[in-house]
Amino acid sequence: MLAVLLALAGCGAEPEQGGPAVRAAARELWQGRCANCHGVDGRGDGPSGRALARRPRDFHDAAWQASRDDEQLRRVIVEGGAEHGLAADMAANADLADRPAIVSELVRIVRGFGASP
Ligand code: HEC
Repeated sequence: MLAVLLALAGCGAEPEQGGPAVRAAARELWQGRCANCHGVDGRGDGPSGRALARRPRDFHDAAWQASRDDEQLRRVIVEGGAEHGLAADMAANADLADRPAIVSELVRIVRGFGASP
């Protein structure tokens, strides 16, 4: 379905398409690179996250979810927190700048936490 939508939107030239493989890769990335701070379940309670002066927020917070659009989330993920007035502990993920499909799936993971308060 997503692949169809991407094709309809003219995104066929992207190096990576959404789909099960990209979704799995993003989930692996979340667990390997993000969950250490954000927690596997996005509560901001990963082992490193708990130790930060400014802890990552709870992604289940509906008011926060409503306060950000997807583009803002994409930017923070790729460019890091400091660039966007957030904690510098949220490092940039420059290697994802040319992997928009992976970033979309990471945003989808973050949004998914918002579905359950
Ligand atoms: C070293 C700890 C750490 C790691 C690793 C980390 N983050 Fe963060 N992240 C943070 C902190 C701290 C914040 C900002 C909290 C604040 O300033 O309110 C943040 C903010 C964010 C935000 C924006 C929240 C907002 O308020 O708009 C998103 C989205 C996000 N992180 C996603 C990710 C993703 C996806 C990954 C993995 C690719 C990741 N983070 C890796 C610590 C981390």
